[in-house]
Amino acid sequence: MLKALGGTSDIFPAEAAAWQRVEAIARRILHSYGYQEIRTPLIEEAAVFTGSLGEVAEIVTKQMYLFQDRGGRSVALRPEGTASVVRAFIEQGLDKTSSISRFYYAGPMFRAERPQAGRKRQFHQLGVELFGSSSPYQDAEVIALMARLLDAWGIHGWVLKVNSLGCKEDRPRIVDYVREKLEPHKDKLCDDCKVRLEKNPLRVLDCKEEGCVKLGASVDVLAAICPSCKEHFDTVIRSLGGLKIPFQRDPHLVRGLDYYSRTAFEVLHGNLGAQNALGGGGRYDTLVEQMGGLAVPAIGFAIGMERVLMALNAQASEPPAGLVPQVFVAAVSPVQIPDALQLAEHLRGQGVPVLVNLEERALKKQLEYASKVLPKGTVLILGEDEVKNNKVTVRDMSAGQQELVDRGEIIRRLTEKIV
Ligand code: HAM
Repeated sequence: MLKALGGTSDIFPAEAAAWQRVEAIARRILHSYGYQEIRTPLIEEAAVFTGSLGEVAEIVTKQMYLFQDRGGRSVALRPEGTASVVRAFIEQGLDKTSSISRFYYAGPMFRAERPQAGRKRQFHQLGVELFGSSSPYQDAEVIALMARLLDAWGIHGWVLKVNSLGCKEDRPRIVDYVREKLEPHKDKLCDDCKVRLEKNPLRVLDCKEEGCVKLGASVDVLAAICPSCKEHFDTVIRSLGGLKIPFQRDPHLVRGLDYYSRTAFEVLHGNLGAQNALGGGGRYDTLVEQMGGLAVPAIGFAIGMERVLMALNAQASEPPAGLVPQVFVAAVSPVQIPDALQLAEHLRGQGVPVLVNLEERALKKQLEYASKVLPKGTVLILGEDEVKNNKVTVRDMSAGQQELVDRGEIIRRLTEKIV
């Protein structure tokens, strides 16, 4: 039997309804903050990612779906959205305008990770990217937007962590500082972190191994950032306080991608098991220039949609309202099937969602089916007399009662219901 690839999933209608609800709420909120949707390709030249996420970032070295296409080009399935949006932003020449640009996206990303609950190979992110502002108040607004999304979806118990990673000029100083602190105790680090200490020492700080956590406890990157980055961070923190957004300062939050500078943040949730990050983001003030554009500051975040739905399921939140039509057209005998089809099409043309029986089956069976899928809905029965007299028998499924009604009248009643 053919099966979906490991780490990928089919989303069947009952679950898709929950996705649609979450996305609809998100779009309303994103539009209210001035964000507009961007849709970039799922496949890009590999350099879009290798040149931006960091040569030594695990997402590039271990997780990227990388292959040669038929023309021999090196291409990748997008592992995240930021680099693609930056590529599109520069390609469109938007880096040369002085205005602020706000984009959001929702769609699949691909990472060849070992699949487990909350960690998939094809997963979905909802993300935002804002270009053209370096104001710390912008950081606060972006974080407030993320918090508002989580609240609007009805997720309880999320924890926001924030940190500053300093600017580009601070980076060598921070790296030296972390190395100096950890080098003397190198033998107590896990094997991966021994390598990280050489190649990318900041990543040691978010290792979950006990020994590494203990050693990292004495390290706070804020000690090595410049006064202007410190002031920027203080303003972000103060603004979050002013907005009454609860947060924790986490001196070990470094994020897994190399493009971040200054503010970095993550939202964690207790009900997700080992994969406890609902979403994360931060500033990336040098990425646009690094990818060939003008120097345009930027900030954004992405939320993992599978994890949002997991958190909602764990809370046993209200199931989303059903999306099945509440009207069913039944044909007493096969002779009336063409009439039933015409009536259904006519009602749909008037905006009424309708299911119709097009099979040769007894009325009893049709009513059984209707009581299963629309137990509180309406069944419109067409028999020989009804068709001859331009009438319809209307059966109210919850009351179990029926009456004969003029066709014009039934259309009026049903369209009235949906306005
Ligand atoms: P990220 O932290 O790599 O950031 O991913 C954001 C979120 O995507 C994670 O917090 C998680 O919820 C979800 N996610 C990541 N990997 C998986 C996976 N394998 N399975 C399921 N969910 C996953 C970024 O991708 C940045 N582009 C965010 C950003 C936007 N920064 C600035 N702008």
